[in-house]
Amino acid sequence: MKSWQVVTLGEPDEALRLTDMQKPEPGEGEVLIRVKAAALNFFDILQCKGEYQEKPELPFTPGAEIAGEITVVGSGVTLQPGTRVLATPSLPAGGFSEWIIVKESEAFPIPEEMSYEEAAAFFITYQTAYFALNRSGRLKKGEVLLVHAGSGGVGSAAIQLGKAAGAKVIATAGSDEKAEVCRQLGADLAINYRTEGFIPVVKEWTNGKGADVIFDPVGGETFDQSRRCVAFEGRLLVIGFAGGEIAQAPTNHALVKNYSIVGIHYGLFRKLYPKETVKAHEKLVALFKEGAIRPLLYSRNTFDRLPEALQELGSRKTYGKLVLITEETM
Ligand SMILES: NC(=O)c1ccc[n+]([C@@H]2O[C@H](COP(=O)([O-])OP(=O)(O)OC[C@H]3O[C@@H](n4cnc5c(N)ncnc54)[C@H](OP(=O)(O)O)[C@@H]3O)[C@@H](O)[C@H]2O)c1
Repeated sequence: MKSWQVVTLGEPDEALRLTDMQKPEPGEGEVLIRVKAAALNFFDILQCKGEYQEKPELPFTPGAEIAGEITVVGSGVTLQPGTRVLATPSLPAGGFSEWIIVKESEAFPIPEEMSYEEAAAFFITYQTAYFALNRSGRLKKGEVLLVHAGSGGVGSAAIQLGKAAGAKVIATAGSDEKAEVCRQLGADLAINYRTEGFIPVVKEWTNGKGADVIFDPVGGETFDQSRRCVAFEGRLLVIGFAGGEIAQAPTNHALVKNYSIVGIHYGLFRKLYPKETVKAHEKLVALFKEGAIRPLLYSRNTFDRLPEALQELGSRKTYGKLVLITEETM
C-alpha cells in the first residue's frame, strides 16, 4: 500500500515522501479501513516541521482524520466489515495512507447522506468547536459570539455551531472573499480585519457591551485585541496560535472586566472523556442531517498531491477544509 511519510523535518515538500509499505492487519479490538478521503489540518504542517507539541520519531505518517470503509475487523470488535466510518488514526501510523488500522473506539459510523470527503472533514474541527463553545464557552442562545479566522477549518465549524446554538455571530477574516465565505457560513456580520479594525465594529454592534464568547484560533495581537472587546463576564477561548505568536494575558485586565480566559486542548479532553466524544458525534451527525452544519470543502486533491495541498493550506489563501481523495473515491 502507499503511505506518505515524514522522512526529514522541514516544509511539506521536503519533509514528505510517498512510500510503499506493508498493508497492516487488525489485532484484537482493531479495524482495518480502506481510506477513501483524508482531511488536512494546519497542525500537519507543524508536524512536518517538527514544530508541533507532539513530536514522533522519524519516519512517521501524518494525517489525523480520515473517512473510509471497514474491510476487516479483529477479535472482540462490534463494528461490521462494510461499515462507512470516519476515524482518527494516531501517529506514527496516521491517515495519509491507503489503508489504516485504528482501535474500534477511534472509528465512528457516518450516515449514508454524508460523503466520504465531508466525513473526513467532520471530526476535529467540529468536535473542537463543539466542546469549546458549549462546554468551555457555555454559549447561550441570544449571546454574541465573535469567531476569528472564521473561514478557516475550526473557524468555519465555530460559525455554523454558533448559529445552530442560537447565537448572534460576528466573524473576522483576512480578505473580502473570506469575509463573504463567513457570511455564507451563516455569520450575521463579517469583518475583513485588514481593512477595518474589529474592536470598534464589535462594540458598536453590541451597543458597547462586547462579545460574550470569543473563539480565537489565531493568538498574538488578535488575542490582545479580543480582550478589549470581550463583554463583562465574557469567555475568551484560546483555541490556537495560527498567527505564530502566543499572547501574554494581563490578569489584572481579566479581573477588572470579570472575564475568563479558557484554554481548549481537544485531544486531551477526548482522551479523558471518550464517552462525551461519542455523544458529541451523535449530536453533530443529527445537526448535519437537519442541515444545520456541513463541512465547507475548499478543494479535493488526489492522493499524490499531499505536499502541494499542505503548502497551499499554509499559504493562507484557502478557506474551509482541503481533502485528499484516493483513486477509489474519484
Ligand atoms: N485547541 C485545539 O484543540 C485545536 C484543535 C484544532 C485546531 N487547533 C488550532 O487552531 C488553529 C487553526 O487551525 P485550522 O485547522 O482552522 O487552520 P486553517 O484552516 O489553516 O485556518 C487558520 C486561519 O488562521 C488565520 N491566520 C492568521 N494568521 C495566520 C498565519 N500567520 N498563518 C496562517 N494562518 C493565519 C488565517 O485566516 P485569515 O487569513 O482569515 O486571517 C487562516 O485561514 C491552529 O493553530 C490549530 O493548531 C486547535
